[in-house]
Amino acid sequence: PYPFYAQLRESAPVHYIEPLLGSYVICRHEDIGPTLKSTAMFSSKGMELSRRTTDKLSPELLGMLMTENSLIASDPPIHTRLRNMVGRAFTPKRVAELEPRIRELTVELIDDMLREDKLDLMEDLAAPLPITVIAEMLGVEPERRRDFKRWSDDAISSSNLSLADTDPARLEASIRALQEYMRQAIEERRRSPRNDLISALIEAGGKEDFVTSNDLIAFCRLLLIAGNETTTNLIGNGMVALLRHPAEWEKLVADPSLVPNAVEEILRYDSPVQGVFRETTQELQVRGQTLPAGSRVMALFGSANRDPRKFQDPDRFDVTREVQGHYSFGYGIHFCLGAPLARLEAKVAFEELLRRVRRFEFASSPAESLDWNYNLFLRGPKSL
Ligand code: HEM
Repeated sequence: PYPFYAQLRESAPVHYIEPLLGSYVICRHEDIGPTLKSTAMFSSKGMELSRRTTDKLSPELLGMLMTENSLIASDPPIHTRLRNMVGRAFTPKRVAELEPRIRELTVELIDDMLREDKLDLMEDLAAPLPITVIAEMLGVEPERRRDFKRWSDDAISSSNLSLADTDPARLEASIRALQEYMRQAIEERRRSPRNDLISALIEAGGKEDFVTSNDLIAFCRLLLIAGNETTTNLIGNGMVALLRHPAEWEKLVADPSLVPNAVEEILRYDSPVQGVFRETTQELQVRGQTLPAGSRVMALFGSANRDPRKFQDPDRFDVTREVQGHYSFGYGIHFCLGAPLARLEAKVAFEELLRRVRRFEFASSPAESLDWNYNLFLRGPKSL
């Protein structure tokens, strides 16, 4: 997409795109900050479920799923209260404490992967790592992990992310199963708290009289949707970039302490989330364009992160670059809650790969033949 973004940035930095998007797309780095900051003009309400999805679900299920107390799809003051609440449970300390366990899991996954004749980094490492970590955080029993993974995959396809057509009956069954599982898990923990994220959320929610069990379920669904495929793609996109730039891999071999910086460069260079949507609350002017009230707007991070006005030589992948100001985790009040976790998982994944493997190559002839996910704004390889 990047050559196309470059063209848009120069010739139509705020541009209406009808097919699939139905959105004004904001392409320049300097225009995105103000857009995401002014939540009174650019609202997040209703951004979670698209019509593509709501058309597929029964009104009853939709009633269960819709809540105005959705972290990602609310504006202040509701967002402020929700963010404070989940912030008390999903703390950087809780995340940092996970590092030894994340490392243990990563090593197991890589060792299993390296025993196979034909590796698929996505299936063998990048996909199972984040889903297992979040399942363990929530306290999902090992025997339910497989179900949990399936529900999580279906949750993603229900949240306007995937363009692949999902069978409505399967989608409905899967969403119901996840809702029911979460409802029971919350009930059990209300009776006897455990040392897991669900219990921490119940405790934090108890201080907020407006947060219901349904809202907690919605938040747990959000963790699956927001945290899994994104982190999978961060690891996958990173490996693709390193395969295409062997000299950068060699720099990491020589100095593994560069890995955290490499992760930031990967985020900038090939953002797992290419953009986010907002809706205008009033008629607005952006870069000379009039956006009517009620317009959908997409802040195109994938373009902003390659804007030469912000990043020198932006199409060059350089693990030693001083990367500051990429938008891959968003900006403003909705800045990614899981950023510390995603950074940690990617860091550990690359550190442990470097420790075990001197050099990787594409199995089949490279670059152009890569198969990317069919998705509106999540970018990552299908298999690798
Ligand atoms: C929000 C990206 C991993 C949980 C966001 C947003 C972005 C983003 C761009 C802002 C959405 C908006 O402004 O509308 C990413 C990327 C990830 C990642 C690129 C991995 C590389 C995670 C993980 C979790 C998570 C691991 C949790 C387990 C969330 C939540 C929000 C969010 C809860 C909503 C925050 C709010 O609305 O206040 N993420 N994310 N994310 N992310 Fe992430």
